[in-house]
Amino acid sequence: MQRLNNITSRKLAYTEHRIHALLSARWSPVAFSDEMVEAEKIRTLLEAARWAASSYNEQPWHFIIATKDNPVEFENLLSCLAEGNQEWAKNAPVLMLSIAKLYFERNGAENRHAFHDVGAASAQMTIQATAEGLFIHQMAGFDVDKARKIYDIPDGYAPVAAMALGYLGDSTNLSEKLQQREYAERDRKSLENFVFSGKWNQVSPIL
Ligand SMILES: Cc1cc2nc3c(=O)[nH]c(=O)nc-3n(C[C@H](O)[C@H](O)[C@H](O)COP(=O)(O)O)c2cc1C
Repeated sequence: MQRLNNITSRKLAYTEHRIHALLSARWSPVAFSDEMVEAEKIRTLLEAARWAASSYNEQPWHFIIATKDNPVEFENLLSCLAEGNQEWAKNAPVLMLSIAKLYFERNGAENRHAFHDVGAASAQMTIQATAEGLFIHQMAGFDVDKARKIYDIPDGYAPVAAMALGYLGDSTNLSEKLQQREYAERDRKSLENFVFSGKWNQVSPIL
């Protein structure tokens, strides 16, 4: 375990520049404890999502939540996940699905930033989770059509990402492959790869 500003993390990011300890400490585990997340904490995470910025303050996010307290609902959401994700996400006590409202309430026009804003809300939720000693692992690997059918998601809305939420668990019961993944070093592209000035692909002198 590594410690940074009172935050403990198994996989702190080794950053090239200073960032907030909560951002360093967040990561996506596959080993979840079966300990239920307190309802008040789940509400806190949703509140963190609620206060994200969004285009025209449309707040185009929705979240469907299933906890193990309701095994039928939990199984329903779990069944939407890709097999490779089910393998570890089944251990988490809470699953979520984020959904974007694709058209503006204000004028019915297409909201080109709906996914962006759902991502921003999810990121806030994820950082709040870190502050609560919790972990969120987001997933693109799920069956969008199945989710649409199970939850009766209307036209004009699109499932965005699934999420597993919980406390960190013991990795020894996981397959060897998953255990390797759990302890693999985290890495990122350097700023030079994606920060430009002047024109495309011209590395910004600010770096
Ligand atoms: C939108 C999104 C979709 C993802 N989809 C999956 C997925 O289907 N399965 C999975 O195991 N991890 C998935 N991840 C987790 C990423 O692999 C992970 O965030 C990335 O490797 C960086 O690792 P870190 O979050 O620990 O820093 C996804 C993450 C995001 C944000």
